[in-house]
Amino acid sequence: MIYIGCDHGGYVLKSALRAYLDDNGFEYTDMGCDGEPVDYPDIAEAVCRKVLESEDNKGILLCGTGIGISMAANKIKGIRAALCADWYSAKYTRLHNDANVICMGGRTIGAGSAVEMLDVFLHTDFEGGKHAVRINKIKKLED
Ligand code: RB5
Repeated sequence: MIYIGCDHGGYVLKSALRAYLDDNGFEYTDMGCDGEPVDYPDIAEAVCRKVLESEDNKGILLCGTGIGISMAANKIKGIRAALCADWYSAKYTRLHNDANVICMGGRTIGAGSAVEMLDVFLHTDFEGGKHAVRINKIKKLED
């Protein structure tokens, strides 16, 4: 399952990403907001708690820059949130970092690029191997 959330700075971009998810038959849950002013840590927490319910879940978080909401998400144990602004990063954060959340900036990224980044993020699997060793080291930092 995919969980998507944004603050008011990411709301317009969320509509574009929802259209992509709808058009491509993805199941997802929108955890807000609906454009009203909200505090991005609250949305990050709501999405990330759901993502952590299953290893197969993914999260999408959007704020004005993507920075605040990614900072908040990465405070939650088990979350590997990647702030992405380019396609290569969106691909390799799945291949090498096993990112379970992608973050983007609604005021910094165009909808076309964001859709391409989301598409590769959702269609790329973790490579494992030496990268799993590194992810385990990240997990140790959480303790
Ligand atoms: C909200 O105005 C803005 O601060 C927020 O969307 C985000 O950019 C924070 O990192």
